[in-house]
Amino acid sequence: MCGICAYVGKENAVKHVLEGLKILEYRGYDSAGISYIENEKLRTIKAVGEIANLEQKVDEIFSNIAVGHTRWATHGGVTENNAHPHLSFTQNIAMVHNGIIENYKELKEELKLDKWNSQTDTEVFVNLVETEKGNLIQKLISASQKAIGSFAVAILDKSGFLVLGKRESPLYVAYVKGGIMAVSDTYVLSGLAQEFFTLKDNEFAEIKNDKIYFYNKNGKKITKNSEKMQFFNKKTQIFEKTHMKSEILETKDVLLETFMKYKNGDIFSKVILPKKLKEINLIACGTAYHSSLQGAEYFKKMGISAHSYIASEFRYGNEILNKNALYIFVSQSGETADTIACAKMLKEKGMVCLALTNTPNSYLNQICENVLPTFAGKEIAVASTKAYSCQVFVLYLFSLYLSGKFIEKKEEIEKVLNNFELIDVDKTLVDKISNFEKIFFVGRGQDYITALESSLKLKEITYINSFAIASGELKHGTLALIDKKSIVIALCTEEKTKEKLFSNIEEILAREGSVILVTNFENSFESLKIPTFPSEFMPLIAIIPMQFLALHMCEKLGYNPDKPKNLAKSVTVE
Ligand code: M6R
Repeated sequence: MCGICAYVGKENAVKHVLEGLKILEYRGYDSAGISYIENEKLRTIKAVGEIANLEQKVDEIFSNIAVGHTRWATHGGVTENNAHPHLSFTQNIAMVHNGIIENYKELKEELKLDKWNSQTDTEVFVNLVETEKGNLIQKLISASQKAIGSFAVAILDKSGFLVLGKRESPLYVAYVKGGIMAVSDTYVLSGLAQEFFTLKDNEFAEIKNDKIYFYNKNGKKITKNSEKMQFFNKKTQIFEKTHMKSEILETKDVLLETFMKYKNGDIFSKVILPKKLKEINLIACGTAYHSSLQGAEYFKKMGISAHSYIASEFRYGNEILNKNALYIFVSQSGETADTIACAKMLKEKGMVCLALTNTPNSYLNQICENVLPTFAGKEIAVASTKAYSCQVFVLYLFSLYLSGKFIEKKEEIEKVLNNFELIDVDKTLVDKISNFEKIFFVGRGQDYITALESSLKLKEITYINSFAIASGELKHGTLALIDKKSIVIALCTEEKTKEKLFSNIEEILAREGSVILVTNFENSFESLKIPTFPSEFMPLIAIIPMQFLALHMCEKLGYNPDKPKNLAKSVTVE
């Protein structure tokens, strides 16, 4: 949430920062802004909406130093005044910030300024920094001791240098061609740097005279080792009109790619497990939580006790920890705040933690050290699609590995992947479903998990109110909502619950609700036929038409599926 990009060097900083912000736009796209120095004056330009709006305003500007920001609003509405950078009352420093200063109201009162230009916590933080003693880096370090909450900040000083600081939100810095760059995501550095430095929590940096100087929380200079850039696989990229469509279409290729990487078992053999593995607990948010639910099903099928938890619930819940459990944190980005908070907490308590992420070098990878990567390639659309499929798939492979069945299943897996079909939905069905006021997704067992994910996809990009329910639960309350205005999309891929689900469909039809059955089984209902594969693969097959359904309904409504309103790709605040 929120993207930061700063550059200082020989080249045009404004151009570098804008290019960086375009890559970081997935982190928030409410508004954007940039501060730079021109003729020894600190100037700031902001625009509401996408980076393109800002770009129009800064065309032709040249500066050797700039900080920029793309915002996902936390405090204060989407206005130019609330957009970053924020200036201190002296107008000497400009700050861009990713995170939340939780005690900003108390700090604001203590600062007693006559005038505030925004409703943001960031304006409070930059003024707190300004009123501290010492040089800018000392000021930032002491201000951060008073600030409660999370921050990644870059501050541009009018006299021509930058300082950085980080707690919880990500921040990286690197020597790039002709200068130095600080960014929220190392992806911005692709093609610009081979190595980078990760600021750890409560570390700070000063970028002055073409050099980066690092400091700890006591203001002591420290040396840091650089890390090698790891790159996303680009072989599987498909280019369609929207990222979401490309990413769904890439699913088969990235599953194959992921399998090739895991095939020889090397990645699994490096995983550190508890001495006596007694249970697996998966912790995640949103779509990654749904893949964790499916993962837990796979582990249970292999006789391993498994549970899946929503990270924000687990964090403040009363779960009993188990030294013999493996805790798996599933996250596409590897930087989701709730998931990270859980990982840090469990790591500190000495639990065995493992990150299952799609992002090389991510913060979650650094916390857990124990990592299972997915090889979905860069996922840009806010709605997660191919990354979900890869998470489900890697969890399936891992369940086979832990139960000693990986080698015997390899041939079957390869065969399935080679025949994997990406089922689309046709326009007539999209038109039909669009006519209903209420949309429900139902299923049993693994199909209920697919229903949850299908409903999330639809809500996220069409803003249509839909929800998913285990079909056996309908008669315990939700059936009261079923009428002529309702359509139920029923998923059915499991033989053992097929007949029960068919009865649930009859119950819906009897109440004048409409039903579309998504199934590989013969049936007498209006249905979307999907091919038959071994049962463990059916969640991967069935989710594709549901992702397409959400996409086509979004297109029909004229929305941009890549940037749904109110959301951001990386949720770096709790
Ligand atoms: O990067 P993560 O996988 O940790 O993200 C978790 C959720 O924020 C994410 O899956 C979200 O639910 C997606 N936008 C759903 O499509």
